[in-house]
Amino acid sequence: MITGKYPSLRLRRSRKESWSRRLMQENTLSPSDFILPIFLIDGSNKKQEIPTMPGVYRYTINRLGQIIDKAIKNGIPTVALFPKTQKILKDELGSESLNENNLVCRGIKEIKKRYKNQIGIMCDVALDPYTSHGHDGLIRSNKILNDETIEILINQSLLQAEMGSDILAPSDMMDGRIGQIRKALDKKKFQNVQILSYAVKYASNFYGPFRDAVGSKKALKGNKKTYQMDYRNSDEALREVALDIKEGADMVMVKPGMPYLDVIKSIKNKFKIPVFAYQVSGEYSLITNAIQKKIINSDAIYESLVAFKRAGANAIVTYYADRLDKILI
Ligand code: PBG
Repeated sequence: MITGKYPSLRLRRSRKESWSRRLMQENTLSPSDFILPIFLIDGSNKKQEIPTMPGVYRYTINRLGQIIDKAIKNGIPTVALFPKTQKILKDELGSESLNENNLVCRGIKEIKKRYKNQIGIMCDVALDPYTSHGHDGLIRSNKILNDETIEILINQSLLQAEMGSDILAPSDMMDGRIGQIRKALDKKKFQNVQILSYAVKYASNFYGPFRDAVGSKKALKGNKKTYQMDYRNSDEALREVALDIKEGADMVMVKPGMPYLDVIKSIKNKFKIPVFAYQVSGEYSLITNAIQKKIINSDAIYESLVAFKRAGANAIVTYYADRLDKILI
């Protein structure tokens, strides 16, 4: 028979009432934790659902107001722009990335004109939405070229900075690009443009729906394993981060998100710098499909997001960020 004295510490005491559970919360979510990705398409007056990402749309520039008004109203600090480039504009060199009238450039200009600094703009620095082969770098003899690719990334960065992008996010995993981009930005007086390095980006199976969304899936030949990281490794992630900090990254990204919470935590513990997590398209599709089929409850979205905070992330890129009014209740 258990006596009244045993056990003396009962952790369930604190879970007994809702007010007490709230008091004990170690991590919470607020709109300031989120970055909203937005897919852009050519044309006008279109809002087009992405079949593999139910609930996520591509917008024409003139329809951007709809999603950005809501993002500002919900208190989201930043949006991230991704273009679906028309096939006829793609080539081996990703030349469209340097066109000052490309979708991303027009998107940045429109948002800055309409909203000034009410919301930040982040842009990927990478060639894959623009190349006919779907890779992030230039190719010669079947090899992805590192240093030659960086030359283009520098020009893409300068162009996006000139258009008004606040955060540049090199996402291609080439070696040495953060330092080169930082140097070029500073030289051209863009010393206040931030760099978010996708320092730890794994060659993941979870990017499929994104590649549909930007139209690079069918184009992609082979895989990205010679530049994106092997998902078996985590010490290597710390080496990547150490290098990017030395080269001038303001913050670093870990991607995908949920399968890599251990990596987020180790980076945070070791480097004490802002770490962002990307809940990628495959994670979004898995959760959303399971909810639609009533296999799991929609509260799973909140649970999946708070996990990033627990691991130590300072911000979360997620396709759910346009629905925070329904999720953060
Ligand atoms: C491209 C890029 C990718 C994502 C963001 N930027 C795909 C890739 O590396 O193939 C994936 C995002 C997602 O899956 O949600 N450099």
